Amino acid sequence: MRVEEKEGADSGAIIAPLAAAVYPPDVIETIVWKNVTFAQPARRIIVYDDDDPVSTAGILFRTVLLNGVPTLIGGVGSVMTRPSAQRTGFGRAAMLATHEIIDREPHCSFGLLFCEPNNFEFYRRLGWSLFDGAILAEQPGWNGEYTVTQPMVRQVTHPAPIEGIIDLQGLPW
Ligand SMILES: CC(C)(COP(=O)(O)OP(=O)(O)OC[C@H]1O[C@@H](n2cnc3c(N)ncnc32)[C@H](O)[C@@H]1OP(=O)(O)O)[C@@H](O)C(=O)NCCC(=O)NCCS
Repeated sequence: MRVEEKEGADSGAIIAPLAAAVYPPDVIETIVWKNVTFAQPARRIIVYDDDDPVSTAGILFRTVLLNGVPTLIGGVGSVMTRPSAQRTGFGRAAMLATHEIIDREPHCSFGLLFCEPNNFEFYRRLGWSLFDGAILAEQPGWNGEYTVTQPMVRQVTHPAPIEGIIDLQGLPW
């Protein structure tokens, strides 16, 4: 296993075959977030098995409003492992690498990701917990409470909030 950190914009092509394997058209049709417009990751972790990219996770930083207070947070999204390689530790390796990047960012208060209930346990085991408050986000032509997927948080320099209002001040991820 080899773990690499890359620029988000430059590395989309590397993970395109992986994304196509995880989300073929018939799977995409069933996914609750299929019509959501997401922010693009600034950095990307790519985990290789030999030279084959088998898992990935994206990272971005955003100053959100936590109960009205500007707060720098680290966002994690686009987490996926090739189906044939799932449950063998690659996703965990990708997530641990995102933790390192977020933890080294000065003044980053906490981490935030969004997921579906079938993945809660995967993230719980990595130290993430459910955020029980409200998320406000933007979509093209729309601004409001974002409830498509569930938010999970992880402490960095501050204890992660359990409730309250997080205004993403932009697109979700
Ligand atoms: C979620 C996902 C990224 C996990 O990747 P993975 O490479 O299979 O994860 P790992 O093998 O590193 O799993 C780490 C641990 O979590 C467990 N785990 C993984 N997925 C789990 C799940 N859905 N529920 C419960 N436990 C899970 C593993 O068994 C492993 O346990 P262990 O530490 O006791 O060995 C992968 O299943 C995936 O790509 N799913 C489809 C896309 C998706 O849903 N992405 C997440 C969007 S938020």
